[in-house]
Amino acid sequence: MSEIRVLFVCLGNICRSPLAEAAFRKVSKAAGRAIREINSAGTGNWHDGEMPDPRAIEVGARHGAPIHDLRARQVKAEDFENFTHIIALDTSNLRDLKAIAPSSALDRISLLMDHVPGREGTDVADPYFSDAKAFETCWADVLAGAKELLKAIGN
Ligand code: 4NP
Repeated sequence: MSEIRVLFVCLGNICRSPLAEAAFRKVSKAAGRAIREINSAGTGNWHDGEMPDPRAIEVGARHGAPIHDLRARQVKAEDFENFTHIIALDTSNLRDLKAIAPSSALDRISLLMDHVPGREGTDVADPYFSDAKAFETCWADVLAGAKELLKAIGN
């Protein structure tokens, strides 16, 4: 078992980061990589304790990435101690994380799409106020990010 602990962070922890968590779980399992911990959180607390958005649950289920058991939580101070890789889903999440992180954790924080060649600096777009197609795009983005992140993370 590796000592790698990965945390995905979006705004509400009910759409993008639960899907990123499930996508990373799926690709690491398929690759036979035993990652110590995979989790997700939101920079905001509006949805604390809630299930993921039904549209995110649906798209995850369709792609073999179940998220119905996950419950939303806000990022907390211990996360910056506990996780070796803290992955922001968009650039505003990245900025918000860096603003609250202790300086010792800054080098463990990165943007998901920075790991995907040709997509550096781009956001996984927030699908919350959008339609089902946006959730499908979100899934494709987090899956691409999860695959490249796994490649980038050593054993
Ligand atoms: P997420 O999506 O950050 O991908 O979980 C959102 C969920 C809720 C809200 C915004 C984005 N909201 O404003 O409540």
